[in-house]
Parts: sequence; structure tokens; C-alpha cells
Amino acid sequence: MKISQRGAIPPFIVMDVMKAAADREASGEGVLHMEVGQPSTPAPSGVINAAKQALDGDLLGYTLATGILTLRERIARHYLEYYGVTVPAERICVTTGSSAAFLLTFLAAFDPGDKVAILRPGYPCYRNILGALDIEAVEVPVGPDSRFQPTLESLDAAGGGDLDGLLIASPANPTGSMLREDELRGILDYCRNHQIRYISDEIYHQITYGETTSTAVAHDADAVVINSFSKYYSMTGWRLGWMVLPEDMLRPVERLAQNLFISAPSLAQHAAVAAFDCSVELDANVARYARNRELLLAELPKAGLDKFAPADGAFYIYADVRTFTNDAQAFCRQMLEQTGVAATPGNDFDPVDGASHVRFSFAGSDEDMAEACRRLQVWLAKV
Ligand SMILES: Cc1ncc(COP(=O)(O)O)c(C=O)c1O
Repeated sequence: MKISQRGAIPPFIVMDVMKAAADREASGEGVLHMEVGQPSTPAPSGVINAAKQALDGDLLGYTLATGILTLRERIARHYLEYYGVTVPAERICVTTGSSAAFLLTFLAAFDPGDKVAILRPGYPCYRNILGALDIEAVEVPVGPDSRFQPTLESLDAAGGGDLDGLLIASPANPTGSMLREDELRGILDYCRNHQIRYISDEIYHQITYGETTSTAVAHDADAVVINSFSKYYSMTGWRLGWMVLPEDMLRPVERLAQNLFISAPSLAQHAAVAAFDCSVELDANVARYARNRELLLAELPKAGLDKFAPADGAFYIYADVRTFTNDAQAFCRQMLEQTGVAATPGNDFDPVDGASHVRFSFAGSDEDMAEACRRLQVWLAKV
């Protein structure tokens, strides 16, 4: 029987590491989770209470394909209050996590054969989803010289005016690096001049350590902004995200969303309205990430890991492990077996240089991070 080439996309390796960690846990052995980019906290209590009320009081049927109006209005208010930007609720589309937003955006903005630039290292699913849709992912290599963000010269080298799209996350995964506001403006000008659709992955906004974030929607009405309740709002499994769309993509995205998803999960939508009023609890999570980040930046060098990407935001340390290995996948497997610390090999984020890098997520508890550092120091002293 025939099976399609589209399904032959690479795995999302972090999910495979999660599986290995779950197998270890099932056999009764403990795991310190540094592999997955997910808060170790539940959704904030305001969201859980709102979900309980919705369970009792609402039909929880399908919603409009673009989401319930109360949530879209609340997201619009967030743009005004947090960024000082007026965004009409009509331009907001609620999605099944930001993952669905990528699919909808790529389908609505690009045709097969179009070229979309993404950063390397970068979030693997961009490359893999584009590949499944027969859209060419053009990799822009980034490194320490430009703080792991692209320069205009690197965009020229990637094809410049031949590109149809450019997708950047700031703060980024796996590096945590951020675009400064002047850099973002420069890139947006570049995209406008070359008719390149800019897609801004803002999923790690509000998780920063001293740097400020600026939303692309403040500067460019043609940009697509993608965000999610997964990270700052600590709601990964609720599968809810949103987009701020340019006018010309509203109806195409709506038609695609109707046909592909009908609607995002109704219960999650009703509950998420409360998320924007939970900043005390959520900012306490960010304070914990900040403590964990300080701890790792101080303790990992004692284990011999001292070359990192900037970690300006998000909750990752992307470490160069070249002095220990050029096979990060085997290294992470052994680390899990011998220390119980799960981390993600750089191969997930960078098919060229990733084998000499490991991403450590510090979204876990203070205690787990401290214990992981201790175990890594002992283990790496022997490797
Ligand atoms: C940069 C980035 N974008 C998007 C996602 C997808 O998140 P979700 O579908 O849960 O919104 C992730 C998840 O780790 C991510 O790191």
C-alpha cells in the first residue's frame, strides 16, 4: 500500500527523549526533567476556577473557528495593556496551541515551492512542518557573533528578495536569544522592501531576564504574530494559542481553520480568559526561572560546560558540549541512563552543528535544577 512522503518528516526529537524518560520512570527510576520546554507548574488557579465554572455552566460545544469573542477581546486588551498597541479583536484568531497557528499561517501565506527562511539553530517543528507542506525551509545559520539572531547580511546570503517568508522567535528556542527593538525594526523594513512575509513567534514573551520584548504587530500591519498559552501562562496541555493576523490573511485563515480544526478546545478557551488576570502567580513562575537560570549559569561551568548562547529569555541553556562529545544524541542517552537527567540533543534544533550541543530546560523546580547540577558535575568529571 502507498504511504506518503509527507509523513517521512523527521521526529521532534524532544518528544522521543520524553518517551525515553517516561520509560525510565515507568520502570521505577527517577528522572530530573530538563528535556522538555514546559513549566513544572499547573495552570494558574484563576484559570482552573474558570474551567470548573465553564464545566458546570457552559455547553462547551464547538466555537467559532476563530475563537470565542470574549477571549479574542481579552487578548486584544492584553495588547493594549502590555504593549500599548491597539489591535482589534477581529484580527485575533484563537488556535489549538501555536503549533496549529504555524500550520494555518504556512498554508494561508505560502504555496508549495515557496521559500521561508528560518534560523539554525531554531525550533525544529518550523522546518518539519514546512517540509511536510512542500515549502522550502531556507536555513539562516546564526551563532555567537550575532548573539544567535540574523543580520541583514545573513538574510541577503539566504536569498534576500527570493524569499517569500521569514520566521523568527524572540526570545528564541533553543538559545533564549532576543532581537533588540532596533534590530526587529531593521528586519521588518527589510521584509517590507523585499515583499517577504514576516512571522513573529512570540511564545516566550514575558519570560525574559532584564531585556524588554517588542511585538512585531506594533511596527508592521502585514506581519503575522503567533503566541500561546503554553509557556508564560503555564498551560501546555490545554492546547491553546493565538495569532494576530494581517487583514489579507483573515478570511483565508478562517476558512482553513473551519476545515482543519472546526475550533480550538472550547473548555480551554473559556478558562483562558482568566489567564490575563493571574500575573502575580505567573510572575512568581518567571522569578523561579530566573533563579534557576542564575544557578545553571553558575554551576554548569563547574561541570565543564561553559559555552552558552545568551539565554536572554525563555527557559533554556543551549550549551556547546564539544569538549565532551560530537554525538549529542548518544551523550544525552548516556546522561539519562547514568544520571537520570533528561536533556535534549542539539540535533533537534540544528541538523549541521547540533550534534555538539545540548539544550537544558530550566523550567523545572528549584530542587530538581540544583540536584541536576550536582549529578552533572559528578558525571562529567568522569566522562
Ligand atoms: C519557539 C516555539 N514555538 C512554538 C512552540 C509550540 O508550542 P504550543 O503548540 O504548545 O503553543 C514551542 C514549544 O516548545 C516553541 O518552543
